[in-house]
This record gives sequence, structure tokens and C-alpha cells, in this order.
Amino acid sequence: MLRLNLLQHRHLAACLPLLLAAIGSVSVPAVAQDEGNLYDTPFDVSAGESYFQRQCTRCHGQDAKGNDETGAPDLTGSLRRASSDAGIFSIIRQGIAGTAMLPVPIDTPDPTVWQLVAYINSLRTDPANIDLPGDPAAGLALYNGKGDCARCHMINGRGGRLGPDLTLVGEQLDPEELKTALTVPDEDVAPRWWTVRVTQRDGSVVEGLRMDEDTFGLRVIDADANLWSFRKNEIDSFEVNQSSTMPSYTRTLTENEIDHLVAYLFSLRKEN
Ligand code: HEC
Ligand code: HEC
Repeated sequence: MLRLNLLQHRHLAACLPLLLAAIGSVSVPAVAQDEGNLYDTPFDVSAGESYFQRQCTRCHGQDAKGNDETGAPDLTGSLRRASSDAGIFSIIRQGIAGTAMLPVPIDTPDPTVWQLVAYINSLRTDPANIDLPGDPAAGLALYNGKGDCARCHMINGRGGRLGPDLTLVGEQLDPEELKTALTVPDEDVAPRWWTVRVTQRDGSVVEGLRMDEDTFGLRVIDADANLWSFRKNEIDSFEVNQSSTMPSYTRTLTENEIDHLVAYLFSLRKEN
């Protein structure tokens, strides 16, 4: 029963953007507060950085690591007074009463403030500023050894295709999201990674990743990387499953080992 509700809920969530698009004009600023920061492209981060260099470094320092003399704190780690984008936004917009942290000039446009938020967030996910408990080298060994991750994942062109390419995953996910990917893989599975179980007319069953599906047909890639193509009117039935084929590692790996893997995955990014 619970399972059913969950499926329905996910289905609904997946349809929502389409529905909204069908209804028509969706005003972007109106949802900014709810949706988090809409100004967080690389362009916004660098615009935020130049504003920060002009207005904020005299207290927070060139590297945003804070300054004991002015009492302005380090902004590169987790913040004491804000845990969300909206929280950082309001600190910058309103200042912190009774401290040297003054509000930005009242005529500063919202997008500029969001760009500052994006810049501050980028400091927190800059690997140079992050102290992770795990050891990337130990994580690499686990990746190829006990974790057997390469069976499904590709890094720099090597590995399997049964899961997403992880070559740049350190840029795409932060350490917390990486940990969730390893411990609760069923959370947020993209449709690309849903599986399907096809029962053919002769009773035989094919199971695998649902490559694509339209009104008439269905393509499936099985665990041995064989590609199957079905016409829906020629099969008995099929069932789509939205959970992940990736196992959860909470039982098979220790907390430390998961930390090592997170450290390794987080190091996977473009060379600069
Ligand atoms: C005149 C000095 C000064 C300037 C200029 C300044 N700040 Fe601050 N800022 C502070 C001080 C001092 C605090 C700590 C206040 C407190 O919590 O007691 C602070 C706190 C903050 C915090 C909260 C940190 C936390 O850990 O919760 C953020 C975010 C922040 N500043 C961002 C900015 C940004 C962005 C700018 C530029 C637009 C800026 N500050 C300019 C002095 C300054
Ligand atoms: C049986 C195949 C399989 C194995 C083994 C496997 N994964 Fe996955 N992995 C997947 C699939 C499928 C997804 C996409 C669905 C999801 O989000 O869970 C995924 C998702 C991920 C993601 C999220 C990627 C993203 O872009 O959202 C990470 C990180 C990840 N795996 C790391 C690992 C690591 C590290 C290991 C080894 C400890 C591992 N996986 C083992 C199949 C696998």
C-alpha cells in the first residue's frame, strides 16, 4: 500500500512540470524563495565573486576565510547563522543587527544578492575548502575492489554502462548527496535508470534498464548489456520499477569505507 502511494506520488511529481508548462507562463521570480537559488550558473558565481571582491573582502578577507580583527567569520565552511540559500540571502539583504555585518545597499537588485549566495555556496563546495573524513586513495581501492562499482559505472571511459558515468560526479553532487547515493540509492532515481520486467507471450521474462519507451515499443538493456526491442502488442505484459538497481551499501560497507568512497567520488572532477 505504502509502495503504491509512493509510486503515485512520484508519478505526480514527474508530471507536474508538464502540467505547469501546459498552463502557460510560470513567473520565475515568484517561485525564487521556494525553489532555492535560480541564479547559480558559473556566470552567476563569478558575478557574485566580483561583487564580493568589491564589497565584502575588507572584512571577510580576499579568500573569504574571515578576519579576526574585524570579527568577520570564515564563509568557506558551514555557516553559523544560515543553513539554507534563503537564510544566506536574508543575512546579505538585511545584515545582522547589532554587528558590523550591514545590509547591502537597499537598491541592490535581488539577482545580485542571489549571485552572492551562489558564490558563497561555491566556496563551500570548492574541494580546497572541504575537509572530508575519508581518504580518496582508500576510496579508489574500494571502488575497484570490495565495492565492485566499475561493474556498473564508467570513469574516464572505463567500466560498465549499467549506471551513470561518474567521471565528473564530484562536480555534480556534494559530499552529502554522494553519501545518500551510496546509502539510499532508491531516493531520486532518474527515469533513465528505471527498470522494466517484460513477460513475453511464451512466458519467458526479460528484465533490465528501460532504455526508452513510447506508445508502441519498449527497449531494454539487460544485465549482460544485451539490447532488447519489444513491440508492446507482441508481448504479454510489462512492469516498470522505479527503484534503483544499485544496492545500498549500508550493510556491506562500514561507515569509514563509505567516507573513503565519498572522498574518492568527490575528487572526480575536471582537471584544472
Ligand atoms: C564591515 C565588515 C563586514 C562587511 C563589509 C561584510 N561583512 Fe559579512 N559579517 C561581518 C561580521 C562581523 C559578521 C558576523 C556577525 C555575527 O554573527 O556576529 C558577518 C557575517 C556574515 C555572514 C554570516 C556568516 C555565518 O557564519 O553565519 C554572511 C553570510 C556574510 N557576513 C556575508 C557577507 C557578504 C556577502 C558581504 C558583502 C556584501 C559582507 N558579509 C560584508 C562583517 C562584515
Ligand atoms: C548493479 C549496478 C551498480 C553497482 C554495482 C553500483 N551502482 Fe552506483 N548506480 C547504479 C545506478 C543504476 C544508478 C542510477 C540510479 C540511482 O540514482 O540509484 C547509480 C547511481 C550512483 C551514483 C549517483 C550518480 C548520479 O549522478 O546521481 C553514485 C555516486 C554511485 N552510483 C556510486 C556507486 C559506487 C561508489 C558504487 C560501488 C560502491 C556503485 N555505485 C555501485 C548502479 C550501480
